[in-house]
Formats: sequence, C-alpha cells, structure tokens
Amino acid sequence: MGRLIVVSNRVATPTETKGSAGGLAVGVFGALKDTGGVWFGWSGDVVSETVANAGPTLETDGTVTFATTGLTRKDYDQYYRGFSNATLWPVFHYRNDLARYEREEYAGYRRVNAWLAHKLIKLLEPDDIIWVHDYHLIPFAEALRAEGIRNRIGFFLHIPFPSPQILLNIPPHEELVKSLCCYDLIGFQTENDELAFHDYLRRHARGTVSGDGHAEAFGRELRTGVYRIGVFPDDIAEQSKRYESRQHVLDLKQSLEGRKLIMSVDRLDYSKGLVERFRAFEALLERSPEWRGNVTLVQIAPPTRSDVTTYQDIRQQLEYEAGRINGKYSGLDYTPIRYLNQQYDRWKLMSLFRESQVGFVTPLHDGMNLVAKEYVAAQNPDDPGVLVLSMFAGAAAELEGALIVNPHDSIGMCEALQRALAMPLDERKRRHEIDMQALRKNDLGVWRDSFLRDLRSVPLAAPGSDGSAEKKKQDRRDAAS
Ligand code: G6P
Repeated sequence: MGRLIVVSNRVATPTETKGSAGGLAVGVFGALKDTGGVWFGWSGDVVSETVANAGPTLETDGTVTFATTGLTRKDYDQYYRGFSNATLWPVFHYRNDLARYEREEYAGYRRVNAWLAHKLIKLLEPDDIIWVHDYHLIPFAEALRAEGIRNRIGFFLHIPFPSPQILLNIPPHEELVKSLCCYDLIGFQTENDELAFHDYLRRHARGTVSGDGHAEAFGRELRTGVYRIGVFPDDIAEQSKRYESRQHVLDLKQSLEGRKLIMSVDRLDYSKGLVERFRAFEALLERSPEWRGNVTLVQIAPPTRSDVTTYQDIRQQLEYEAGRINGKYSGLDYTPIRYLNQQYDRWKLMSLFRESQVGFVTPLHDGMNLVAKEYVAAQNPDDPGVLVLSMFAGAAAELEGALIVNPHDSIGMCEALQRALAMPLDERKRRHEIDMQALRKNDLGVWRDSFLRDLRSVPLAAPGSDGSAEKKKQDRRDAAS
C-alpha cells in the first residue's frame, strides 16, 4: 500500500499527535503511522522571503515526516487572512454580509496554493495517495495536476458547502468549483453540503451527477461522498473521568457553591452564535427568576484570527453583551456569565464538561462541531448532562438525544435550557445512551478509514493521461477490449 500524504493549512506538531490536542490530529496521525507518510502545510509562522523559499522544514517521528513551511507577510495577508478567512470562511458559513472580495487576495490565494503544491512535489512518490483538507486548499490538486502529478488526490471540506445562490456571491465561484473538480474524491460533512455541491454542478456547470456519487463536470470525472467526522468517545470518557478529581475541577465546583453549570466552548468566531447564546441565557434569567443566582454559564472562547476585522467586531460585541448581562443580574457573590478568552487543555475541558448539567452548543452554521460530540462523550453515564444543540451544526443529524434548537430563536433556546436544567435522571440517561451509541458507530476511525478506502479505490489515471473525463473513459474502453 502506498504512503499517505496529508496536506492541511495547519499541521500538528509531533508532540500534539500524542497528547490531548484536537482528536483530529490524533486520528490523522494514526492513518499516517499505518502506511508511513508526510504531513505537509504551513508552520503557522510569518517569515522572510529567503526563509520561506528555503523550506520545508522536516521533522521525523518513526515513518512519519512533518514538513512545514513559513509564509511571507504578503502571502499570509492574501492567502490566509484575506481570501481564506475574509471571503471563503464567511460565505461558506452563509455570512455574505461579513465577506469581502479583493482580486489581489484571490490571486494570492491561488499563487500560494501553487507554491505549496510545488514544494510538496519534491517529497512525493508515485504510489502515494494525497489527502488535502479544507477551504484554504481548494486549488491544490489543480496545481499538482498542472505539474504532471497523477497520484490519487482526495479533498475533505471541514466546513459547510453553501447552496449555489450563496456561493455565486464569490466572483470567481466557477473557477473555484472547477478547481475542486480536479480532485478524485471530495468528502463533505453532511448530505446537505454534498447536495449543495451537486446542485451547483447541475445548474451552473452543466455537470452530471449519478446516484452513487459519481460526478462529471468541467471535463473531469470525480466522486463525492459524505463522511461525518467523529471522535473516539471511549477515550474521551476515560480521560474526563481520570481528570475529575484534579484541582481545577475541585476549584470550579467550590466556586459554584451548588449552582448548576452550563458549559460552552468555541473559538471566538461569528459563526458560533455566541451573541444569540448570551441573549438566550439572559432570557432564562429574565423569564425564570428562580434561576437567578442559581445557574452559571461558563463560556470559554479563545480568540482566533484576531487580525481580521470581523473577528475584532464580534469580540467587542461579546464583551459588551457579557458586561451588560452581568451588570443586570450579578449579585455580590454571583456572576451569571463567566466569559473567558483563554485556550484550555483539551482533557481539562472534558472534565469541566463532565461537571456541568448542560452543554450549550448553538452555532449559526457549522460543518460538524466536534465540541458537541466531545460534550456527550465526556459525561458521567450515571448522571449525564444534557446537550442543547443548534439545528445548524452538522452533528445535529446524528445526536438524536440532544435538545435541538434554532439559534435565531432566543425564547426557544431559553425553553430548551429550562427543560435541560430540570430533566429527570432517567430521561438524561436514555438520551445520553442514544448519543453514545451514535458516537461509537461513527467514530473518528470510521471517518478516516472510509474516506481513505474510497480514495484508494478510485481508478488511477493511465500513464501519460491528463486525467480528464474523456481520457478516463477511453482508458476504460481500452482496458475492456
Ligand atoms: C476551523 C477550520 C480549520 C482551522 C480551524 C482553526 O475548524 O475548519 O481548518 O484550522 O478552524 O482556525 P485557524 O484559522 O486558527 O487555523
């Protein structure tokens, strides 16, 4: 079996793949270890042109090589801060109102993709399979193909794929979808995302899509599929239990003085619905006076992309909302919202989840939302908390035990909080068990292995082929005759 090459904008460090960093790092590293391979991407550093052109820097762990490169200030501004996070991210999360489009940034985005692809080529072997992740790297396969690379290349989109009416707002939408069609396999988080992509192919690219996920557009054949990203629920359950008597948990417990706890953890991002969430919590205190002084919302929100204006705006807005609500409902010994802009160790978070009565996860749009899954997995099965989950998180389709809410309906969310806080133990246990079964059935290993199995089964373009749909058909006819 050929090696696996993983390409993503951010690359985990070898230490992170072993510790408590995001489960994704551990899952992807597991696949890399199986076959040996390379994890390639941005180092997270902005560097001089000389340093950027010298890379990539290689670090080896057994049969896995971590290959990273810095970006120049201009590349960072145009590719990462600009087109990826000020155009693609908002539009793919249905926030055209927050998006901007600059031609130079788009040109920079394509230029960096081509430059990264060129760097990777030196590390490639002919039978490697290449797995590219997320919206930063849509043109990556096209750039590899332009340099004559014929390996199997798959793409997984971690965020939603917007419906065509939304996507059309990005001026080079057609070029982007055409670039996507250079992949052999595209994986989406949910059926809705896959359908939106098919819809674009049919209605805007004169493409065809068959029932089994085969598609043809822009003269290329490709496959699409739904691969729901998961977690390893039993590992999380074990770790959250192990951490439950640590000092940070005891300190939190003591400070709550018997009050109920609602927990939320998100990157500080406008797609996470944090303002709406604070207002729903305010509605709870407003409408149910018996909860005033008796329930605390802990919102952990580490800042992210803080040099993008829209992120500065949401941060200000949240500080205002938290201050306003706390000003209204605090007592001398009670602060309703504890709002923390800090990053916490993942296992610490899991143990805090285990301590809480409600997990409040209400994004306005989210590809999957692994926090929702982690919340469920971290619960004590004998006394589990309740998940209140947005209908617009990919996870909502799987977690039937959660209380599903519309994040635009603050009273609806307030009612779900009331119900969760008062839910009898039997019902909580039943709902938790339903969700744990769903998590075990579709864990992170299933996501990873099914995507890689499907990618490996894509027929390879014949030597000398340009990989086009026409040529592939001809190859099949030749092979059959
Ligand atoms: C989302 C994206 C990831 C990204 C992460 C952190 O989950 O889907 O691709 O790595 O956010 O964002 P950042 O901009 O800090 O890499």
